[in-house]
Amino acid sequence: MKIFVDTAKLDEIKEACSWGIVDGVTTNPSLIKRAVDEVKGGGKRIDMETYMREICKTAGKGRPVSLEVISLTMKEMVEEAELLYRKFNPAAENVVIKIPINTNLDESEEIDYDALKTIKKLSRKGIPINATLIMTPEQALLAAKAGASYASPFAGRIDDYIRKKLGIEFGKVDYFDFDLIEKIGRQRLDKHLKNSRGEPVASLYLNKETKNSIGFGQDNGIGSGVNLVKSIMKIYRNYEIPTEVIAASIRNTRQIRQMAEAGAHIATIPFPVIRGMLQHPKTVEGIKNFSADVVPEYRELFQS
Ligand code: E4P
Repeated sequence: MKIFVDTAKLDEIKEACSWGIVDGVTTNPSLIKRAVDEVKGGGKRIDMETYMREICKTAGKGRPVSLEVISLTMKEMVEEAELLYRKFNPAAENVVIKIPINTNLDESEEIDYDALKTIKKLSRKGIPINATLIMTPEQALLAAKAGASYASPFAGRIDDYIRKKLGIEFGKVDYFDFDLIEKIGRQRLDKHLKNSRGEPVASLYLNKETKNSIGFGQDNGIGSGVNLVKSIMKIYRNYEIPTEVIAASIRNTRQIRQMAEAGAHIATIPFPVIRGMLQHPKTVEGIKNFSADVVPEYRELFQS
């Protein structure tokens, strides 16, 4: 699995790239806001164009950098994408344009499909697209069909959504055992089905308690962010779809393990979470003990 660093902070990109484990960078308007706030907080001014070019250069050739458009209509998104690509791709030939999979601001509005049309148009022109804000496998399928090179399912935000629906209190980076929720859901359903044995299926289905237990802890059949990525991977594999899946909105290290198990092509990970991937108390204890046990004869070997 490739690792992208999910940040627009230049110092974080530089540092993470220096570790030799970073394969790309993803940004979005909120990440850029955080980076700008940090620079301004340090009393410096920021020249956005120079700053973004520096991000692309720091990542370097062969490490894609996703830059997002900010408008919501096809005409404007295409213009912005072309401008971003023209301005920043020459620096290291690594720019990928992020287009949200659906730009409607109001759920009740009729969908205008501008996002899909934009993805199609830009990818036909040879501009690589990262379809972002993917929350369902269906959206991921459409993104791929429209020609996106990458699809970014937002795993953490789906987890947030499900946890909120369940009324669970959680910290943003908390790991949560969604498999357990699934088991509880199944048991609840089994209980109702057993109690109602003998009733016709239709009446079982209409029974209020049974209805409440169906889809417990799920978002339309998706049980977690990891589950979302698994489903997309399965669909892409079924049809040998070349679009790469970027598991995004990652909150903790265990989620990364699960994304790798799910076969995600890429995980884009916030800087502190990448750092957390190295941590374990027994590793610290081990290194302390090894250091204490070095005998002079062994040390001398390295001093000659
Ligand atoms: C990356 O492509 C996404 O924009 C990012 O992972 C979103 O993360 P968040 O849900 O923590 O804001």
